[in-house]
Amino acid sequence: MYFNLSEEHLAVQEAAREFAQKELKEGVIERDSKMLYPKQQVQRMGELGFMGMMVSPEYGGGGMDTLSYILAMEEISKVDNSCSVIMSVNNSLVCWGIETFGTAEQKAKYLPKLATGEWIGSFCLSEPEAGSDATSQRTTAIDMGDYYLLNGTKNWITNGGTSKVHLVIAQTDAAAGYRGINVLIVESDWQGVSVGAKEDKLGIRSSDTHSIMYSDVKVPKENRIGEDGFGFKFAMKTLSGGRIGIAAQALGIAAGAYELSVDYSKQREAFGKPISQHQAIAFKLADMATEIEAARLMVYRAGWMKDRGIDYDAASSMAKLYASEVAMRHTVEAVQVHGGYGFVKEYHVERLMRDAKITQIYEGTSEVQRIVISRNILKGQLYIPILAGEQFA
Ligand code: CAA
Repeated sequence: MYFNLSEEHLAVQEAAREFAQKELKEGVIERDSKMLYPKQQVQRMGELGFMGMMVSPEYGGGGMDTLSYILAMEEISKVDNSCSVIMSVNNSLVCWGIETFGTAEQKAKYLPKLATGEWIGSFCLSEPEAGSDATSQRTTAIDMGDYYLLNGTKNWITNGGTSKVHLVIAQTDAAAGYRGINVLIVESDWQGVSVGAKEDKLGIRSSDTHSIMYSDVKVPKENRIGEDGFGFKFAMKTLSGGRIGIAAQALGIAAGAYELSVDYSKQREAFGKPISQHQAIAFKLADMATEIEAARLMVYRAGWMKDRGIDYDAASSMAKLYASEVAMRHTVEAVQVHGGYGFVKEYHVERLMRDAKITQIYEGTSEVQRIVISRNILKGQLYIPILAGEQFA
């Protein structure tokens, strides 16, 4: 068992850290409070290769592994979670979904521009009445012969206002239940596509979250991904990997708040010494460090399993469940360590606390993660396979 990162991994981590600290930190408070979309910053993420990290070089991507992507997500999420969610949806839901399940034509048309950030992608699953219950799609994609007629509304769509490429999950045959669901690639400038107002959110405020309406949109048959009826499984498989990205975001939020708390507590004095030397604070730092390390091991392992083709559904849900709870718990503690300063925007921790909440909600709530984990247990997977003595290359 090896725990050290390779030279390549360390280089990716360093590049992401430098980018986040030098190019994202300045302005992040203003972007958050004014809900300003980080246009320039997203463009830079494209230039630096962060928008299509795992896409094969054949399609203009970085050809990197999931651990590299996790390391970059973690560093960027220490600073700006609006940028990291934009990056996460583009990488692990949209690019990965198209590259893994798309046709050669779909990959050639969409991946090169998505991987460089010239186009942004969105994953359009949630609906006003279908959040956790993803089979209850009301959006319909009626088979009209050589095209689908798409009608319906999608809610809380990350990158909703800026994405050129939408992966839309819709019901073609209601009687067939989840087997009647398809996933279609839709372009934002097609007739019948319209975007609602930007959501005013608790956290990740500068990211671009909208409803999207589809009204009699004609989607050519060649834009369906996979066989007829594959849409629900596509969503489940894609989200399983996406959850590793959000787990990495949660890990970065927790680690960012912890690093700020360590620095602050060494400088701030009370009762004649730095507050870090009071047990009340030192114990908080110890708990933060311990739980962040545990979350980190879970997130890195889930990525490692994905890269080796080991069933990672339970591992990714466990990583997301745990890392998001650590993020929430310890950003609250980070605000406490900062006292009154923690409650004002200038010190960053209140923003990280607000950002943490969404990691317990999107790409499946904590309750959804528990459903996925418990189903794997009941199927007979008592422990994660690699620790149950199974051998893998
Ligand atoms: N891989 C492959 N197949 C899978 C699968 C997976 N990970 N998970 C389920 N399936 C298959 C099942 O095997 C089953 O197929 P068979 O009958 O052929 O075996 C089929 O899919 C149906 O599975 P279930 O019966 O488990 O389906 P369910 O309706 O009970 O699923 C659920 C329950 C797990 C809660 C699921 O609905 C779910 O994950 N919901 C949450 C949806 C979600 O994460 N939404 C987030 C929106 S996207 C987002 O947030 C992006 C963003 O903007 C940041």
